[in-house]
Amino acid sequence: MKIGIGNDHSAVELKNEILKHLVNRGFEVVNYGTDNAESYNYAFAAEKVSNAVIQGDVDCGICICGTGIGISIACNKVKGIRACVCSEPFSAKLSKQHNNTNILCFGARVVGVELAKMIVDEWVNATFEGGRHAERVATIMDIENRNC
Ligand code: RB5
Repeated sequence: MKIGIGNDHSAVELKNEILKHLVNRGFEVVNYGTDNAESYNYAFAAEKVSNAVIQGDVDCGICICGTGIGISIACNKVKGIRACVCSEPFSAKLSKQHNNTNILCFGARVVGVELAKMIVDEWVNATFEGGRHAERVATIMDIENRNC
């Protein structure tokens, strides 16, 4: 699996830790985020990762800013993206199983490195369950198609 990762200035360190963790687990990771501490608008990273997911350059994405909120809102502006902010592993797992999220977001000022790794692991290990959830996700995408 190929994963795109994006971040703003507040999340450079955590991004590097997560990137290392994913590579150690055998994933291919493409870095779309900033690598320095100068102020960097999270929306640019969000758009890069989201486009990479939609174009099939990567299979899914992980986006990190200070809270995870701004970057997730920006990701969700790209048609076809289902991004969510998760600060614990349970929601991360369920977001994949039930909501078929294609981008996981969290906040470098909210979660520590070890918790972030657990969140990421639950998310990448989980698969969409389909069934009744497929109908609900299809309804979400219908709303997007009718309104965007
Ligand atoms: C940057 O200071 C901060 O606003 C950003 O990382 C993020 O938390 C926005 O949602």
